[in-house]
Amino acid sequence: MNLKSQKFYLHFGLERPVRILHLTDVHLSLADNLDGDDMKEHAAHRRDVFFREAEFPERDPVGYLEEAMEYSKEFDCTVITGDLLDFNSHANRETAKRILAGHDYLFCPGSHEFAPKIGIPDTFAYKNEHWDEVQSVFRGDMEFESRIVGGVNLISMDNSFYLWTQRQFDLLKQEVAKGLPIVLFCHCAFNSPAILQTPGTNYKQLLRTEEEANLTIAVNEYIFNEPLIKTAFSGHYHGMGGTASMGEKEGYVLAPLFKGIVGEIVID
Ligand SMILES: [Fe+2]
Ligand SMILES: [Fe+2]
Repeated sequence: MNLKSQKFYLHFGLERPVRILHLTDVHLSLADNLDGDDMKEHAAHRRDVFFREAEFPERDPVGYLEEAMEYSKEFDCTVITGDLLDFNSHANRETAKRILAGHDYLFCPGSHEFAPKIGIPDTFAYKNEHWDEVQSVFRGDMEFESRIVGGVNLISMDNSFYLWTQRQFDLLKQEVAKGLPIVLFCHCAFNSPAILQTPGTNYKQLLRTEEEANLTIAVNEYIFNEPLIKTAFSGHYHGMGGTASMGEKEGYVLAPLFKGIVGEIVID
């Protein structure tokens, strides 16, 4: 196996250990004839960017994703926290569909899934416009999904553009009411100034209303203060992983799969 594992251990007093495979930031960068020559050139450039960023890895992102999904069969649950597609091309969507076919997993999108091309500013308009097209690649509900596995409630939530929604807040409270310990998965870690809605961090011209910003702050506070929400796992940073505070709690950031790294979370 070419993959390297980062291991995380959580202790909730379960009868039997639960093993979760966490994958993040694959950054598939492909384009085909339907995407056009301009996108093919863009894709080649992006593949080169990640090849260098990963310091000349043994496999490309396609190979690592194939290997990781095969490996996922050994786990109780697999969660993918976004940036699986580097940009929203036909070739990326079709490749992801092919590799993910027949696999079970939870998925939330990252900051790249909706991008028509890297380098143009993110907007909620193109996120909304292409939501269904991106969702068609993945199983489940990429805005919010929960899965109870061995007495733990695993929840994946989209925060790719640094906002939570009222629907996510309502669904999260419903899950908390079930009374089980919760582990959250989302693309951006809670120590991100953009997620915290720190003034002046209107990231990449993502204009949001004051009402939207206040709702996100309220959801953050709820997550930080609700005892049943134990921790969160994220990606996005592309470093070698680490911790990220979420109020008094500690969250975790996983290194990217394009560097050949997967997260193995053992909860007992
Ligand atoms: Fe990423
Ligand atoms: Fe990202």
